[in-house]
Amino acid sequence: MRVRKARLPDAAAIHGLIRSLSYDGTLLPRSSAEIYENVRDFTIAETDNGEFLGCGALHLYGPHLAEIRSIAVDEKSQRHGSGGRLVEALLAEAESHNVPCVCLFTRIPNFFQHFGFAQVERTALPDKIYKDCANCPRINACDEIAMARGVLPDIAILGPAHVEEHLVPLQL
Ligand SMILES: CC(C)(COP(=O)(O)OP(=O)(O)OC[C@H]1O[C@@H](n2cnc3c(N)ncnc32)[C@H](O)[C@@H]1OP(=O)(O)O)[C@@H](O)C(=O)NCCC(=O)NCCS
Repeated sequence: MRVRKARLPDAAAIHGLIRSLSYDGTLLPRSSAEIYENVRDFTIAETDNGEFLGCGALHLYGPHLAEIRSIAVDEKSQRHGSGGRLVEALLAEAESHNVPCVCLFTRIPNFFQHFGFAQVERTALPDKIYKDCANCPRINACDEIAMARGVLPDIAILGPAHVEEHLVPLQL
């Protein structure tokens, strides 16, 4: 098994896996257009023969924060190390960008604890809230746990007024 950055031809397999896990809310649904547009965020795991096993994405908010998203391994290939290799590759990618904090929202915190993530208050991650939670129908009934690894950000780049050009001081 090996992990590598995704390329455009991987988009269909990535979309199929994410779609299969989004019906029950395990993963956030992502359209094929969104996968194509963001395919460079993705890393995939595959067999030595090139058979697709799983994927994960690293979304960069800015110099202060990145997020692991859409991480999944095909059900028949789980528990053989692919998920862990994907997390490690995404963490290395965040480090290569000098991003001091990586966050995620999950229902399986025990898996991510293996890789140094700890539970945090979701209010510590306002960019994530503005990007996804603000438009989510389950905003007041969310059962996901916010986790982070590294130094929590004291700035945010997104906001209600979509102030995207400048990092703004955090005001909660
Ligand atoms: C979560 C997921 C990506 C893990 O992939 P995987 O290939 O099975 O994981 P690995 O085999 O690399 O496991 C790494 C470690 O995590 C543990 N682990 C795996 N799945 C776990 C889970 N659901 N809960 C707790 N620990 C888990 C393994 O036992 C292993 O521990 P060990 O090294 O002490 O043996 C996979 O189960 C999956 O695709 N789940 C459905 C999608 C999902 O829930 N994604 C997360 C959304 S936030």
